[in-house]
Amino acid sequence: MAEIKRVTVIGAGTMGHSIAAISLRGGLGVNLIDTTESILRDAQDKIKKILSAQIRAEDTPGPGLEATVISGLHTFLSLADGVAGADFVIEAVPENLDLKKEIFQRLDVLCPPEVTLASNTSGLPITSIAADLNHPARVVGTHFYMPADIMPLVEVVRSEYSEQEAVDTTVDLLRLLKKKPVVVNKDIPGFIGNRLQHAIAREALFMLDRGVASARDIDDVVRYTLGLRFLHTGPLEQRDLNGLDIALNIAEYLYPDLEDSKEPPTILKEKVASGMLGLKSGQGLFDWSGTSQEEVMARKSEKLEKLLELMES
Ligand SMILES: NC(=O)c1ccc[n+]([C@@H]2O[C@H](COP(=O)([O-])OP(=O)(O)OC[C@H]3O[C@@H](n4cnc5c(N)ncnc54)[C@H](O)[C@@H]3O)[C@@H](O)[C@H]2O)c1
Repeated sequence: MAEIKRVTVIGAGTMGHSIAAISLRGGLGVNLIDTTESILRDAQDKIKKILSAQIRAEDTPGPGLEATVISGLHTFLSLADGVAGADFVIEAVPENLDLKKEIFQRLDVLCPPEVTLASNTSGLPITSIAADLNHPARVVGTHFYMPADIMPLVEVVRSEYSEQEAVDTTVDLLRLLKKKPVVVNKDIPGFIGNRLQHAIAREALFMLDRGVASARDIDDVVRYTLGLRFLHTGPLEQRDLNGLDIALNIAEYLYPDLEDSKEPPTILKEKVASGMLGLKSGQGLFDWSGTSQEEVMARKSEKLEKLLELMES
């Protein structure tokens, strides 16, 4: 792979700051771009927190290591300045196809053709983002999961134009950052993870709508059965463990009854229309009143880290 020494991350929000943190921790220089100084300052504080926690968790944190790592970070308001000297660019601006296309059009001109350009879109077509560029072959998707500093897996998405070298460079870079890259060979909406996640969510919302069980009980069935199993065995390997004859038998009688609506479920539309958006508004499918978003997310991250240790043991 072309040697990567400096990564530019565009967008310093939820995903961008934590992608910047893992890149710094991987020994790379990082240029971080956003639209205001205050967003960049806030992102810098969050990056310092992530790095301190990671370095503290290590057995032998060296003296001054934190300062050395953070010294690799440079922030920019200008795209042209922020991509100068970058060997790899990751875009993490809001999920808006027109905005992403506009940024990639500019990157296509600003970055030499050997620089790989990656989008962290959750599911917009990478092929659409790359279309109309002079060098579309160097564009791939890098779908990190939230929180990106903890979740190991990244989907590397090949567009209709992506060349193998861009895919290989991205996979090598992610391995260097101690991530687990998986190559998605077809640029399908939602890639792999979000398709699976939303297939389960659609069925769960449908059962809630039909009064099959309470929201808590439906979630508990997932957490205490599938959730535990999925730590060890994915849905395909699990079919092998059960026996494919049994999988076929169940598919024949159960699939006709599974929810296959092309429309969002009524309960989702009703909740959104009445401003019940979940944790951020205090009410959703559950009652979150009086709960701090930060505390919920911090508890979740703590548990994820413990589970990961268990998975890797
Ligand atoms: N949040 C998640 O759980 C999650 C998970 C996986 C993927 N993603 C994807 O990652 C991308 C970023 O999501 P996010 O949650 O970090 O969003 P966010 O809103 O938290 O952050 C986006 C940042 O981009 C900045 N920005 C907007 N326009 C810009 C521009 N022209 N130049 C530079 N910066 C600009 C914003 O100021 C903001 O700080 C989206 O495509 C999203 O779908 C998000």
